[in-house]
Amino acid sequence: MQKRAIIVFLVGLLVLLGGAAAYILTAPASTVTRLPSQAGSGTAKVGGAFELIDQSGQTRTQADFAGRHMLVYFGFTYCPDVCPTSLAIMSQGLDLLEAEAGSLEDRVVPVFVTVDPARDDVEAMAAYAEHFHPRLVALTGSDAQIAAAAKAYRVYYRKVDDPSASEYLVDHSSFIYLMGPDGTYVSHFAHNATPQEIAERLKGFLKL
Ligand code: NI
Repeated sequence: MQKRAIIVFLVGLLVLLGGAAAYILTAPASTVTRLPSQAGSGTAKVGGAFELIDQSGQTRTQADFAGRHMLVYFGFTYCPDVCPTSLAIMSQGLDLLEAEAGSLEDRVVPVFVTVDPARDDVEAMAAYAEHFHPRLVALTGSDAQIAAAAKAYRVYYRKVDDPSASEYLVDHSSFIYLMGPDGTYVSHFAHNATPQEIAERLKGFLKL
């Protein structure tokens, strides 16, 4: 009888140890899976007040766009490939939707903000904007104004000095942001989205 009691005790101990081991093994996993969602729920706010200068030399603030969605892209006119492609895609997406739904002038404003105000002055922005959507608002400003706008939109940018190149480049994040009529973030598109994808998703957001 005593032997059986010992066996029962040992089996019980093993079950307890097994349970503890299983708990220890799974507990860190559940902690790990919780972390990204916690990080995700603390959504960094994209967007906010800005004061910049458009390609006709007029001061423009967020208030000028109130009541309309904004498609916003930050970049620079000397960018060899990503910026012109992104701006073309953004313009073509809006063109596609306007071909189907009619002018969206009262509802969507495409906006380009430079991260290279040293070279992208009002004249440079005016000339560059010609290549894209006819309603594109091209914004520049002082270093401080650009820094404030980029900070509000969580846009990273950094000048890159390449001794082998005659012109410097600017590293920058390249999302196309869709902002709502109240100026708050709605969604974003990757810089390599297709015009069709932009038109289609925009149609959904605008409930067209
Ligand atoms: Ni670029």
